[in-house]
Amino acid sequence: MIQAITVIGLGFVGLTTALGFAEKSFRVRGVDKDSRRLARLAAGQLPFHEPGLDDALRRHLGKGFLLTPGIAEAVRGSSLVFLCVGTPSGPDGDADLSILLQAAREVVAAIDDVAPVVLVIKSTVPPGTTRDVVAPLLRSLPDAAGESVALAANPEFLREGCAWDDFLRPDRVVVGVDDDRGWALLAEAYAGFAAPVERVTPTEAEFIKYLSNTLLATLISFANEMSMIAGRVGGIDIRRTFGILHGDKRWHGAPAAMASYAFPGCGFGGYCLPKDTQAIAHLARRLGVEAGLLEQVIATNAAIKRAAIDRITATAGPAQMIGILGLSFKPESDDVRESPSLDIIAGLLERGYRRIVAHDPMATANFAESYRLPIEYGQSAREVVDCSDVVVIATAWCEYVNLLTGVADKPVVDLRHCLKPPIDDAEQPTP
Ligand SMILES: NC(=O)c1ccc[n+]([C@@H]2O[C@H](COP(=O)([O-])OP(=O)(O)OC[C@H]3O[C@@H](n4cnc5c(N)ncnc54)[C@H](O)[C@@H]3O)[C@@H](O)[C@H]2O)c1
Repeated sequence: MIQAITVIGLGFVGLTTALGFAEKSFRVRGVDKDSRRLARLAAGQLPFHEPGLDDALRRHLGKGFLLTPGIAEAVRGSSLVFLCVGTPSGPDGDADLSILLQAAREVVAAIDDVAPVVLVIKSTVPPGTTRDVVAPLLRSLPDAAGESVALAANPEFLREGCAWDDFLRPDRVVVGVDDDRGWALLAEAYAGFAAPVERVTPTEAEFIKYLSNTLLATLISFANEMSMIAGRVGGIDIRRTFGILHGDKRWHGAPAAMASYAFPGCGFGGYCLPKDTQAIAHLARRLGVEAGLLEQVIATNAAIKRAAIDRITATAGPAQMIGILGLSFKPESDDVRESPSLDIIAGLLERGYRRIVAHDPMATANFAESYRLPIEYGQSAREVVDCSDVVVIATAWCEYVNLLTGVADKPVVDLRHCLKPPIDDAEQPTP
């Protein structure tokens, strides 16, 4: 029976997981090595924007959800320890597992009795990581506790912007575990969720997460490649043609959101799709598998951003003021990691465009602080539109659609195809 649950790493995934299990009445302890993040959480503030999580934090902080200053205190007496730390891209695109492995070592060092602990890897890791990297690491540690720790892989499928809802109402839970004790505890943890809990091996669980993310990345790159062809052909209404594609009855029954991935924009971004596609392509290269499709998905994601810059420079001269609307990688999020806006603005600066003013309803501060680009930031979308010669929609926030629909007094480069024509048609390159 579960005594307590520990969550290590309180980012998007970890904080949602911790509060989600507290919502299901488990005693949860959370730890993060970022003291600023811990202090904000202790004050009841979210370190990022995520609807629903703020109320959950208020409900559970100091009750079902306790913050602890270190891993040792967090792990003591816990039955399940979830690792939710980052797994960024390494230099060759491989998954950098150093943060995860360091956290695993710290957990083992903190186990001071032989109480059985299941170490659950919720971070996204390439298939084979639990079996071929984490398990041998634990066996090699001088501390005997490493031997008594059972391992499981339990990838997370939540989407930023609806993380709370996705966690509480998953369509399926994937539990990769070889050992029956680990399975029993994880089955208990997820018993209160109305979703099938699929028991697979840890390697299969890890693989399923990459199946999911690389399919989404592939759909996006496919749509982007087709949109580049359509742009050259000319006279093609992207919104209408893709809308009619989605009318095919074979799409029906799939959640509506799936069709939104088979729709062009200016490239996939965020923390997951870019790094996970890179990581699996790297794994394929290492294993000698010819994974041309994945390599092309990545190449197309770079090409669509170059095409976006071409569309802007075809419309705006270097002396003109360009207004970039949208800095987060998607609407309803303040996450700017791998945001296409970064590459697009950097590309414009490289081509000598110096007069750039940008806006985002939520992500301006994050973007300015993370990337420190020599551009200006507007207080409001209206202000940016008014002072720009050419307006670029880089993130499809509803606010921008409402503001710009029907506006015809200045060129709008709609990189997300979110406006109805004629504006979109007006800036299509001629063949
Ligand atoms: N963000 C998403 O939408 C999403 C969705 C599904 C899966 N994932 C995967 O989940 C993992 C986490 O993603 P995220 O977006 O939550 O990352 P994040 O960067 O937002 O959060 C990770 C947290 O872990 C903390 N941390 C790192 N090392 C630690 C240690 N030794 N002890 C305690 N805390 C430590 C960091 O300070 C940070 O707060 C990644 O592998 C990611 O690929 C992310």
